Amino acid sequence: MLDPATYTPMTDAIETASRDEISALQLHRLKTTLAQAYENVAHYKQAFDKAGVKPGDLKELSDLAKFPFTVKSDLRDNYPFGMFAVPQDQVARIHASSGTTGKPTVVGYTQADVDMWADVMARSIRAAGGRPGMKCHISYGYGLFTGGLGAHYGAERLGLSVIPISGGMTERQVQLIQDFKPEVIMITPSYMLAVLDEFRRQGIDPRKSSLKIGIFGAEPWTNSMREEIEQAFDMDAIDIYGLSEVIGPGVAQECVETKDGLHIWEDHFYPEIVNPETGEVLPDGEQGELVFTSLTKQALPIIRYRTRDLTRLLPGTARSMRRMEKVTGRSDDMMIIRGVNVFPTQIEELILRTEGLSPHFYIELTKSDRMDAMTINVEALPGSAAEEVRIGLAAELQTLIKNNIGVTSIVHVVEPETIERSMGKAKRIIDNRVK
Ligand code: DLL
Repeated sequence: MLDPATYTPMTDAIETASRDEISALQLHRLKTTLAQAYENVAHYKQAFDKAGVKPGDLKELSDLAKFPFTVKSDLRDNYPFGMFAVPQDQVARIHASSGTTGKPTVVGYTQADVDMWADVMARSIRAAGGRPGMKCHISYGYGLFTGGLGAHYGAERLGLSVIPISGGMTERQVQLIQDFKPEVIMITPSYMLAVLDEFRRQGIDPRKSSLKIGIFGAEPWTNSMREEIEQAFDMDAIDIYGLSEVIGPGVAQECVETKDGLHIWEDHFYPEIVNPETGEVLPDGEQGELVFTSLTKQALPIIRYRTRDLTRLLPGTARSMRRMEKVTGRSDDMMIIRGVNVFPTQIEELILRTEGLSPHFYIELTKSDRMDAMTINVEALPGSAAEEVRIGLAAELQTLIKNNIGVTSIVHVVEPETIERSMGKAKRIIDNRVK
């Protein structure tokens, strides 16, 4: 793992610019973006007019609060290309995120957008400790999902040798890691656990692998999961955040030397935290829903997009741009169990604290007597597979959950290798409540 005493970060000037410089740049870019959105996208013209605001009303950054939010259904309602601000012949790339119901959310990029994206991704990989000349194994899915291609262009831009394996075929993932010896892996944290199992299944010591840096994102994961993966592979595990509507991966990135939350690349993406119920803007430091406005995007300028991700904004440390704390979860994933709000990340934290349990789990929600019930299904580690041991572990986790979160749950500790592995984003909640 990295020795902070000998590590020299590599940065562009903007990453360490003063707050005043950053704010001035943001204000300038925000004015341009609002004007472009208003002039070129019917949806924004209607939404601004309805709210009684004009792009010219933005005199300072805080004036952004006067402008209307954009939500996922706005993109769906304008399916497929209605939110694009440039003519078709200027669209160089289209991505889409599938979602569980209805039409996909479609996003577009001009060549300049693809270039900007490659730049912020290169910056992200560099902040994670990646350097030109290293080899980068990319297990994020390639295709309409932004993970694979986003990582690919960024790694190439920074000058790494890219191994575009995409997700799946876990046995082969391990074989190629053994044979090609990449230093960097880009993968969802839950799929990394499946890769870890495969290393062990093949009798290979993961700590002896070539991997030094893991850039993990696309789903929430905890600091306990970070420790688990870092110990297992003897590597640095670093968080990357992003979403298709804003660009894809590379909106915010943790720095390897501090691992203290993700620096938002604020020269391209302007963050706000709002109260999820009222929409009121909250001061830095307060927990709420993350909202983004793009500052340089051409094909799909996005104004005050409600991410549904819950976090808070913190001042810069390793870079002068503000940090977002590790995402607690999405508001959609918040379970309300007998009046208590519970996120899967809280359960993950407690599972990883219980010796004998593996990090493979999912949560089932059911309704009994008009009350929501939460059942946690988690795998035992191979050494704790015996039935009486599993029963003991279940009781232990149940107590931990009661004492730390304050809810009663049902815990099933199942035998090793019985919970389906994720190859991308893990599905943590199965909702069997009758709607
Ligand atoms: O997941 C982009 C991405 C790819 C990010 C690879 C990082 C790495 P979407 O499919 O549009 O895009 O999903 C975006 O995933 O709103 C969050 O809820 C979640 N998410 C992404 N990164 C993180 C993270 C990609 N580091 C949605 N921590 C977002 C927690 C994350 N949640």
